[in-house]
Amino acid sequence: MKSAESSHQKCDKSKSASLKIINSRKMASRLWTLFLFLASANHVYSAPYTTHLNRSCPYHNSCSPGVNQQHIERLLSYVDNEKQPCDDFYAYACGKWREKHGSDATATTMSEAQINENYAELFAELRHNSSYFEFPMFRKLATHFQDCLALDKPHLSRYLELLDHKLPESLKTTHWSELLAVLGQYGYHGHFVLLEVRWHNATHHMLFLLPHNHHLSLNLTPDIYDALSRHGLSDGAWPPYEQLREQFRLLEQNLTSLERSKIPDDSFTNRSLEEIQAEVPGVEWGRILRKQLNRTVGGNQAFQVDDLAAIKRLVEYLNQADNLLLNRYSLARFLSHLVSLPHNPLAEWSPGSKSLSLRCIRHMRRSLYLPMNYVYEHRFYAHRRRADELVIHRVFEQLQGQLELNLDNNPLNLSQELVSSLKAKVHFMRINVGNLPPNVSEQFYWEVDRRWIVGHDFYENHLNSLLFYYSVVSDLEGTKNQTERAIWYSFNMHQPEFPDNIDATPYFYCLGDIIFVPYSYVRLPFFHADFWPALLYGDLANTLGHEMMHALDTDLVDYDAWGHMSNFSDQLVLVPRYTDAVRCLNDSAVMLNERAADVSGSRLALHTYGGDWMDNPDDGRLYFLQFAHFFCGDEGDIYHDTGSQRLNYALSQVPKFAEVFGCQSGTGMNSAEQCPFW
Ligand SMILES: *[C@@H]1O[C@H](CO)[C@@H](O)[C@H](O)[C@H]1NC(C)=O
Ligand SMILES: *[C@@H]1O[C@H](CO)[C@@H](O)[C@H](O)[C@H]1NC(C)=O
Ligand SMILES: *[C@@H]1O[C@H](CO)[C@@H](O)[C@H](O)[C@H]1NC(C)=O
Ligand SMILES: *[C@@H]1O[C@H](CO)[C@@H](O)[C@H](O)[C@H]1NC(C)=O
Ligand SMILES: *[C@@H]1O[C@H](CO)[C@@H](O)[C@H](O)[C@H]1NC(C)=O
Ligand SMILES: *[C@@H]1O[C@H](CO)[C@@H](O)[C@H](O)[C@H]1NC(C)=O
Ligand SMILES: *[C@@H]1O[C@H](CO)[C@@H](O)[C@H](O)[C@H]1NC(C)=O
Ligand SMILES: *[C@@H]1O[C@H](CO)[C@@H](O)[C@H](O)[C@H]1NC(C)=O
Ligand SMILES: *[C@@H]1O[C@H](CO)[C@@H](O)[C@H](O)[C@H]1NC(C)=O
Ligand SMILES: *[C@@H]1O[C@H](CO)[C@@H](O)[C@H](O)[C@H]1NC(C)=O
Ligand SMILES: *[C@@H]1O[C@H](CO)[C@@H](O)[C@H](O)[C@H]1NC(C)=O
Ligand SMILES: [Zn+2]
Repeated sequence: MKSAESSHQKCDKSKSASLKIINSRKMASRLWTLFLFLASANHVYSAPYTTHLNRSCPYHNSCSPGVNQQHIERLLSYVDNEKQPCDDFYAYACGKWREKHGSDATATTMSEAQINENYAELFAELRHNSSYFEFPMFRKLATHFQDCLALDKPHLSRYLELLDHKLPESLKTTHWSELLAVLGQYGYHGHFVLLEVRWHNATHHMLFLLPHNHHLSLNLTPDIYDALSRHGLSDGAWPPYEQLREQFRLLEQNLTSLERSKIPDDSFTNRSLEEIQAEVPGVEWGRILRKQLNRTVGGNQAFQVDDLAAIKRLVEYLNQADNLLLNRYSLARFLSHLVSLPHNPLAEWSPGSKSLSLRCIRHMRRSLYLPMNYVYEHRFYAHRRRADELVIHRVFEQLQGQLELNLDNNPLNLSQELVSSLKAKVHFMRINVGNLPPNVSEQFYWEVDRRWIVGHDFYENHLNSLLFYYSVVSDLEGTKNQTERAIWYSFNMHQPEFPDNIDATPYFYCLGDIIFVPYSYVRLPFFHADFWPALLYGDLANTLGHEMMHALDTDLVDYDAWGHMSNFSDQLVLVPRYTDAVRCLNDSAVMLNERAADVSGSRLALHTYGGDWMDNPDDGRLYFLQFAHFFCGDEGDIYHDTGSQRLNYALSQVPKFAEVFGCQSGTGMNSAEQCPFW
């Protein structure tokens, strides 16, 4: 059996590889280069690709020619005409990318950098213009940002000072589980026994209980040691640095020796609080839950539990270990965790750093996801939303309809039951542009604003932002109010640890059966509501197609329309045509599920939009050039092959490409065996 949730990481499937945000100065000079180039390169515009373009505006009355013309010039500026598109399309379409943008940039990283600049611009405005303070969030974010900018140098003991009133009087006599529950309020659950609220399916969070990952250990830096020993909380003096380090090392060694009772297979079982209490009596579970969740839970409260036997052994060990040591270890781990949260400006501190403003913004985008999205929407996006959504929702629905048809035709010869389950998954799939709850009033945001407290310095604000996030999630697990649920499950309030790269391009979230389209996507070069068909479908239809196909990829196909794990892949591997198709795609060391989404997504886009108009060579070529743009400069990561591999492979699997560019069979882009996947 597989769990309903192995990990968030695995459930979020995006199109982009990891993200290196270029800093704004570099960015500015690169943009400058681009403008210079455009100014001097008007002759490019008369090249092929543009003479007989379809200039229709598929979803609006009219589309601004200027937007399209400028974008086409930009695409053409990256083309290396010395290269043959039929040999290596990446080399052709992205040939001049590096010389313009260097080696660490992609269109995605540049777009993200622009979003960060928008925030910087907004925070500058807020210093002079208080009219925004009539709206929720703005005032608190402005204060939070100023406090972050005022950071002098790291002062980690301040975190502990602020926790003081929540910390026990004595580290020696306080049970280790109680301190863990206090830290759990801030979303910390890194060691000993993990008790956390996780997203579970399309409508619920659940409580998860599991043994810690003993492969993760503490790096006790001198800074952390310093903060601990300086702080008043103490039963006797802290041992010297080296000695404490050694004590922690031995503790970790002992914990490691309590091996899990089985190979981790991500399988969770459903248990009630009473059952857990009966099997692991060494902890007062009800009491620590009350502390961590800020509410009382009943004995029939359901949990997803992994390896209760290992938890029992851990608890027995911890209950007889030196409590003072355990609690010191917990505090050290907590500090280490806080510093390592994404973009914490205290990490890798360098005096007088010019990039503090950017770090503060990036940190706030992670730790205050909802407030930051709200102000972005209000200041930069609201006026474009209607026009954008009209286009994006229509394209999404058309792709959905096409994919349902494809499933109905059942080329893989699946059972009717499986066909209907997969169709349901496609049919009920949702899309959210901008990732805010789509249908709420200002009142909703005022209530969020009220729950979130901004204090007097970076440390206090940081802890409060964590408290805010995790208390919302904890309440969500408990609430019976269906209206509330409908709101909170219509978007994804990213946790503070959420990876930047997933948030930078659209991604499919399997527990909610929903595609999230972030702000950094709904802008040039990827999208504009005024795009002509070749530009519009060249990226949008392919990108949404890619994300939609993640619902059926080799990893995520198992989740049903409501985010529940089922046995679809067990059924699929019994179907010969399916296993043949997978084998065909999986020809070497590739990221199979990304490849499947790339290939099937491109085919889906062409099925839906590749009508006669694309036989016009200018339109066909521009369509593929726009498709290529996303991949330029992309060096891949552990989940994704390089942009060059991905682009060339995907296009070698769509015959339309060879047709449009007139590629002879046997050329690089027209020699691959055609794999009959979805
Ligand atoms: C202040 O911000 C408001 C939006 O809240 C805007 O309409 C107004 O033009 C701004 N005023 C100045 C002086 O920039
Ligand atoms: C989601 O999980 C909860 C808790 O297990 C369950 O009660 C609920 O019915 C599930 N929701 C759906 C839509 O299946
Ligand atoms: C580790 O375990 C050994 C033997 O069980 C015990 O003597 C020792 O005190 C433990 N060390 C720590 C740091 O708990
Ligand atoms: C999980 O356990 C709880 C408490 O024992 C029970 O009420 C619930 O029905 C169970 N859910 C499932 C899906 O088994
Ligand atoms: C805990 O609950 C109480 C009462 O419901 C509430 O007043 C308080 O703000 C909550 N604390 C947090 C951190 O949410
Ligand atoms: C399709 O699958 C069914 C079993 O589900 C099998 O009886 C039938 O022969 C298959 N048809 C083809 C054309 O392979
Ligand atoms: C938003 O609310 C309106 C009216 O209250 C309703 O007609 C519409 O279906 C809602 N949309 C969503 C996505 O919930
Ligand atoms: C449920 O939540 C909505 C939205 O927050 C609120 O307006 C309503 O009063 C709540 N209903 C109950 C019964 O608490
Ligand atoms: C999948 O689960 C269903 C019950 O939900 C069961 O009838 C079927 O045999 C399972 N199929 C496989 C291949 O495991
Ligand atoms: C893909 O191929 C690799 C080795 O080439 C193999 O380890 C892996 O199991 C294959 N995956 C699937 C789903 O067939
Ligand atoms: C232009 O493209 C659209 C597809 O969006 C198509 O419906 C229309 O027929 C095309 N017009 C011409 C003249 O090809
Ligand atoms: Zn993907």
